[in-house]
Amino acid sequence: MTQTIKIFSSLDQLTDYFLLRISDHLLSKITDRFFSIALSGGSTPRAIFKLISDEYKNKIDWSKVLIFWSDERCVTPSDEQSNYRMAHETLLKNINIPELNIYRIHGENEPGAEAKRYSELVTRIIPLVNNIPRFDLILLGLGEDGHTVSIFPYNIQLFNSDKLFEISEHPVTKQKRITATGRLINNAKEVCFIVTGSGKAEKAAQILQKKRGWQDLPASLVNPADGQLIWMMDKDAGANMLMC
Ligand code: 6PG
Repeated sequence: MTQTIKIFSSLDQLTDYFLLRISDHLLSKITDRFFSIALSGGSTPRAIFKLISDEYKNKIDWSKVLIFWSDERCVTPSDEQSNYRMAHETLLKNINIPELNIYRIHGENEPGAEAKRYSELVTRIIPLVNNIPRFDLILLGLGEDGHTVSIFPYNIQLFNSDKLFEISEHPVTKQKRITATGRLINNAKEVCFIVTGSGKAEKAAQILQKKRGWQDLPASLVNPADGQLIWMMDKDAGANMLMC
């Protein structure tokens, strides 16, 4: 695994770099096959998805891009909590991507059945390496408690599940979630954390500088063995890194 850490003075600079990276991927690497990406949820990606749809609406052959999710809340797609709804509003409805290329997690389904269905879908569509689906790019966020996707410190053991997707539950809201596991995440060609805001600074530094207790944080387990790991942070989220 190669790890890159980048701290940007503004969200625009972070987004420009991210756009350059994905456009490099998307514009240069898409030839005779699809480019597969699993989107993260939460609020951080909102601004970035908006910029992608503004800046790259017509620069990318979206018919060659397959969109999946790395986790989803167990709500309907029209619910304001839905990660699909957030991506649809900020990106998907603005770009010319075939509906057939969009594979949302059906949060409205029974969680156990949906985790199974989505695992089988991903296995059927994404090329296998080591007999595990290998995404070209998986986007991740970081929670203020060090969680990533919907794996939290209290249920960190889910990360090492032998399944591709598991059912999780938010520790505070008790909201059920469908989440990718480390089996899928750590098999990706590239994993990109996008982390912004001062609320993430402590945990980001704890993980990246391997400070006491770092291995108790689910995000610290992200380690794509045969891939690239990139941490992209704004200056607020990276503040504690700069103090070392
Ligand atoms: C989710 C995400 C979750 C998110 C982090 C950061 O469904 O909420 O997958 O892992 O990325 O909680 O969320 P914010 O971007 O809202 O800070």
